[in-house]
Amino acid sequence: MNDWTLDYHAFDSAQEGLREALCTLGNGYFATRGAAGESEAGEIHYPGTYLAGGYNRLSTEIAGRVIENEDLVNLPNWLCLTFRPEGGDWFNPMAGELLDYQQSLDLKAGVLRRRLLFRDHQGRETTLTTQRLVHMGQPHLGAIEWYIRPENWSGRISVRSALDGRVINAGVERYRQLASTHLVPLSTDTPCDDTIRLQVETCQSRLRIAQAARTRLRVNGQAVEGAHQILQESGYIAHEMTFELTAGDEAVVEKVVAMHTSRDRAIAEPGLAACQSVVRAGTFTELLESHRRVWSHLWQRCDVTLDGGESAQMILRLHIFHLLQTVSPHSVDLDVGVPARGLHGEAYRGHIFWDELFIFPFLNYRIPEITRALLCYRYRRLDEARHLAREAGYQGAMYPWQSGSDGREESQQVHLNPKSGRWIPDHSALQRHVSAAVAFNVWRYVEVTDDRAFLAYYGAEMLFEIARFWASAASWNAQRKRYDICGVMGPDEFHDHYPDAQTPGLDNNTYTNVMAAWVLARAAKVYDMIGEQRRQELSETLSLTEQEISDWTTIGRALFVPFHEDGILSQFEGYEHLQEFDWAGYRERYGDIHRLDRLLEAEGDSVNRYKASKQADVLMLFYLFSAEELGDIFAQLDYPFSRELILSTIDYYQQRTSHGSTLSRVVTSWVLARSDRRQAWDLFQQVLLSDIEDRQGGTTPEGIHLGAMAGSVDLIQRGHTGLEVRDGVLRLNPCLPEALSGLHMRLRFRGHWLELDLDGGRLTLTAPEGWAGLERILVRDQVYWVGESQRIALYFSPDEGCWQPDRG
Ligand code: BGC
Repeated sequence: MNDWTLDYHAFDSAQEGLREALCTLGNGYFATRGAAGESEAGEIHYPGTYLAGGYNRLSTEIAGRVIENEDLVNLPNWLCLTFRPEGGDWFNPMAGELLDYQQSLDLKAGVLRRRLLFRDHQGRETTLTTQRLVHMGQPHLGAIEWYIRPENWSGRISVRSALDGRVINAGVERYRQLASTHLVPLSTDTPCDDTIRLQVETCQSRLRIAQAARTRLRVNGQAVEGAHQILQESGYIAHEMTFELTAGDEAVVEKVVAMHTSRDRAIAEPGLAACQSVVRAGTFTELLESHRRVWSHLWQRCDVTLDGGESAQMILRLHIFHLLQTVSPHSVDLDVGVPARGLHGEAYRGHIFWDELFIFPFLNYRIPEITRALLCYRYRRLDEARHLAREAGYQGAMYPWQSGSDGREESQQVHLNPKSGRWIPDHSALQRHVSAAVAFNVWRYVEVTDDRAFLAYYGAEMLFEIARFWASAASWNAQRKRYDICGVMGPDEFHDHYPDAQTPGLDNNTYTNVMAAWVLARAAKVYDMIGEQRRQELSETLSLTEQEISDWTTIGRALFVPFHEDGILSQFEGYEHLQEFDWAGYRERYGDIHRLDRLLEAEGDSVNRYKASKQADVLMLFYLFSAEELGDIFAQLDYPFSRELILSTIDYYQQRTSHGSTLSRVVTSWVLARSDRRQAWDLFQQVLLSDIEDRQGGTTPEGIHLGAMAGSVDLIQRGHTGLEVRDGVLRLNPCLPEALSGLHMRLRFRGHWLELDLDGGRLTLTAPEGWAGLERILVRDQVYWVGESQRIALYFSPDEGCWQPDRG
């Protein structure tokens, strides 16, 4: 397998949905699924184009009530391109005979290619070779190039190139009962001979979208005018060209498309901008060259190279690739968050969850400007989070579990269980821990970048308001002399209420309480860090008093953490009284039990009754914090903490988790990386396969799982190198899986690029020329200085159990 391409060697209609998601091309501004140009939305294909931040809201009456959903809108399909020989049908690879089919996604260049040999019912054989890109340097441009070669026939041929705005959101079967027509057609026209233009608007958010397509034709290298025809109907415009071809000729169709919307800056209006962009755009070849160049710059920053690990390398790159298509340097200038399912499909409606926790670490060490922009997405919605807190009876700021355009709570109120066909109340908005994740992400970003200005101006305000929220959510329990946080859900979505309770919510979810304790302590420290002037300004604007800060410290030291009798950390208070689940029996009965919540509900039972988790919950703590940091938090809370506690807690939950979320294996692999390397590697392999093989049984065609994708890279980046920044010090503690003999990557630490090479038992860290003031680097808690040579080389001495300078 080539490490830089995702290859398919045959057409498989059952796999098309998956391939379309995996072959999506994007640039952080917009993305388009890898559907073929001639395909139409239906059972097999689903062309979809999504704009970062392009949402619209619709209402539907379901189960006797009107519910509102905000969706990432499927925008007009700009891919439409097809041909037919005179008297023949429009090209449809499934109608005739496919003699050869090759498809490949070139990760290095960001190009999707297809080559096929097709025989139609009249025995005409045609070779079609296509390339497509969504420009990484010019975010409004996409381009397609088709080579059509009649192998054994000659005659007239028509090519049709269209823009189709009659599309709806139909990419997720579970949502089919919900309203899905978001676009209102505005106009179609032909601003110049070779260019067509389509304008549409979303019906509620009033987002105007303009696409312009320039289609040009060459036969054997010569431009061809041919007979032109324009076809138009509401929301659709096509350009049809008819010309002569002789067997062996090569016709090249080049379609360059520009998309602008009313969210864009520095334009007069989208229609004009789209037309200008497309008129000024270079040829496909020129665009390809500049596009490749930008991708090569991105790869210089972002590549992670493995020695060994079989197919891991290509998949890891595929994951980095999809991350950069969803968010890229273009995101820095946009007001967008990072959707959990990428810009690759309609699952979860393009909403933003806590998955940022899994995505930001990769960006922090490479393009932290993107993290900053994504954190600013949260900052701009701070007022909405304040409103949410007040509505729920709290103070400060409470971020929504699912966030979209304006930061209100977008979680659905009911969801469909496809197994039973029933609409079930959805309480997932009780996952208050998302606010802790926002605070945590602020702090981690600042640690890696030392961006004090961000901390003082945006970060501190978010941290203080989130700390305030947690302080207001904590209630004093006089009996146990601890603070409780009640009525919440942890990350494990299988548990949303106690078995016999009428009201949703659980008490003292350990993950939530420990995160709250961390936020409260961190906020108090940040208060001391931001300088007198900013402290005063924020104290005045937020009416913060010294007393309130001291309350945060007090509460942060006295939150309750439930333990089971045998000392295991409890997922939430009362978890140990739930019934054990018959894992073996259910596996035997159903095979795939990832979503046993749905299976049990369909049987009239409830997963709430069992010690069965969808995903890592308590274990998140060992994922987010190093053992040292967690030790400090437990000491702050005055609870015991030991290596045995970590190991027994991991073991306990590992046996009781269905991994119904792709995030779960990322976390479990991480927490096992040092205690059970083999199992950690097995889980890592499964994380790698989650999307490429659609391991969750049909979810990837609806959108990739970006948290798991980025998490897989982070497992290598931080998990196996022990990379961490704490107290301003870069720390490493490498522990490579047996299957890997080495790894190489570049890291950005506080504005400087470092190169990290791990090769067998050797570690080399190289700093850039002229970086004299390299700070301390800790490898397994020993101090090393890069010094004048700009480089440290160490080898691990098993005898001494530590790293030694490598003088060889
Ligand atoms: C998981 C959540 C996650 C969401 C979006 C759900 O299935 O349980 O933890 O945030 O997917 O990825």
